[in-house]
Amino acid sequence: MSTLEETVQKAIEKHSNDATSMLDILRYVQAELGHIPDKAKSIIAGRMGMSRADLDGVASFYHFFSEKPVGQYAVYLNKSAVAVMKGRESVARAFEQEAGCRFGETTPDGLIGLHDTSDIGMNDQEPAAVINGVVFTGLTPEKVKDIVSQMRSGKSAREMVSDYGDGMNGSELVKSMVRNNIRKRGAVIFAPFESGSAIGKAVRMTPNEVIEEMKTSNLRGRGGAGFPTGMKWEFTRNNKGKKAYVVCNADEGEPGTFKDRVILTELPRMLFEGMAVAGYAIGAEEGILYLRAEYQYLLMYLESTLDAMRTDNLLGKNVSGKKGFDFDIRIKLGAGAYICGEESALLESAEGKRGEPRNRPPFPAQYGYMGEPTSVNNVETLCAAARVMIMGGEKFKTMGTFQSHGTKVLSLSGDCQKPGIYEAEFGMSLQSLLEEAGGSDAIAVQVGGPSGKCVPRRDFGKKLSFEELPTGGSVIIIGPGRDLLAVVHNFMDFFVEESCGWCTPCRAGNVILKQRLEKIMAGKGTGSDLAELEQWCAIVKAMSRCGLGQTSPNPILSTLENFRSMYEAKLQKGVDFVSEFDMAEAVREYNTIAGRNYREGH
Ligand SMILES: Cc1cc2nc3c(=O)[nH]c(=O)nc-3n(C[C@H](O)[C@H](O)[C@H](O)COP(=O)(O)O)c2cc1C
Ligand code: SF4
Repeated sequence: MSTLEETVQKAIEKHSNDATSMLDILRYVQAELGHIPDKAKSIIAGRMGMSRADLDGVASFYHFFSEKPVGQYAVYLNKSAVAVMKGRESVARAFEQEAGCRFGETTPDGLIGLHDTSDIGMNDQEPAAVINGVVFTGLTPEKVKDIVSQMRSGKSAREMVSDYGDGMNGSELVKSMVRNNIRKRGAVIFAPFESGSAIGKAVRMTPNEVIEEMKTSNLRGRGGAGFPTGMKWEFTRNNKGKKAYVVCNADEGEPGTFKDRVILTELPRMLFEGMAVAGYAIGAEEGILYLRAEYQYLLMYLESTLDAMRTDNLLGKNVSGKKGFDFDIRIKLGAGAYICGEESALLESAEGKRGEPRNRPPFPAQYGYMGEPTSVNNVETLCAAARVMIMGGEKFKTMGTFQSHGTKVLSLSGDCQKPGIYEAEFGMSLQSLLEEAGGSDAIAVQVGGPSGKCVPRRDFGKKLSFEELPTGGSVIIIGPGRDLLAVVHNFMDFFVEESCGWCTPCRAGNVILKQRLEKIMAGKGTGSDLAELEQWCAIVKAMSRCGLGQTSPNPILSTLENFRSMYEAKLQKGVDFVSEFDMAEAVREYNTIAGRNYREGH
């Protein structure tokens, strides 16, 4: 048997021929062979009883699977807007110069491969890269020189890290240079937490009482949409299935968000207890933590925390002494795809498939993991739920504003003196936050990631809350002298790359938006280009199937609303302004990009 066949066999056996473990099987082959060769795919498809086309569909969907060798040292350098602001280009050039190949290539000896990647959750310590699963932060051209020379001397990526970050980043099982940068601790997430206190209290109540406590607290989901947690748990409990599941969404792919990474590093017990509380409330025996591939460096540590909690009877049989309440958690790793943060795409991915969003309804509460009722909750939501158990819903409700209760953990990055994590009570003004972070001279702040809002100075007095300035966590500060259009372009590039491609309005529409933007940025646009840009934004928003496409035009729309003169200054002067939007021409262009045959009148 060849090495390839042995590797594939080992990968499949390790995961008991289970199709839901397809990502793990492919990850194993990728790690062992440096790519997933054609032959390996055929063997896997044959052994798993899948069509080759279906297997290709999965393998080609995720950034960290490749049919070509990615290099013995596979460098994935972040290209988020903040990475660019912090000197990413000079670091990229240094990698190219030192390695002797360009981005998108591998050195002829196969030693080093250079790759771009969308966002790795390190915006407060950019430029950053993931090399063979190990995170490197605060990169400079000098550090790159050193890293490449260590690669040539045969050191492993892990051996190249000598200075560890703060908190648990320095622990034996993490040993990472990543920093937490916790700047402000609030009363919900970063207040002291006694292990066992949340689940201990929950099991002394009935599941319905736990749900009522959540409803009393008015806790709303921290993953972006702000859906009331108590209500979600109630729906899930009321939907009868063979089993029910709690899924924690730790995909955290929104550029500029990194708060879940810090919570996972510092408060895994609180998180897992929050999952156990959810499990008790909805009647689930199983919890799944869906962890983004970029946070793989935390895996061993998280697994060992789960083990310790089993020993403490906080997971396993008769949890916390409650007879008949059995609950355990396993971790599923992603493989690099922003769309897998969308809850239904996440479930598909957790089942070992392409991470494409499902049609909704039915919602995960009705038809979730393996078709069973499932509550999908964000990392921070589950920790807040644990706190609600401890402090009680009434007390929790006293914090915040009319529609936003408790605190919000914010990830601050960009042009400020103190980037990092701020746990702020809902209702804090953006201005106060900027003052604390040393970023008051900002010209704009992107709140809620690329799909959120670009807030101008005149609105800095607004409150961080679901009703005024909602955010899943990302706050990107854009200081004086920055080219805001370049930031918008970076965001559009992100959406083009991360569109799952299922529906044409998003797949083709975002390409059109980016191209129109480039034309305007290059000084070749006219008034009609601007008008068409807005029309295309409306089409993509209205016709896309899921939240990604429905919000992807926001960087353009939001800056057009608040910084319109920035676009107008780039337009050609003295060229006729054509205000009408030619729908036939637009549809023709759209179909061409979408690869459809277009015939007049059809
Ligand atoms: C494109 C897209 C990406 C998303 N990414 C995340 C994510 O990384 N983490 C997250 O918790 N929610 C994400 N969401 C929201 C989830 O679909 C879902 O609403 C959330 O996990 C529910 O948890 P919550 O109720 O605790 O907020 C994303 C949504 C969309 C449309
Ligand atoms: S909107 Fe975009 S990400 Fe969502 S299903 Fe359509 S193509 Fe996929």
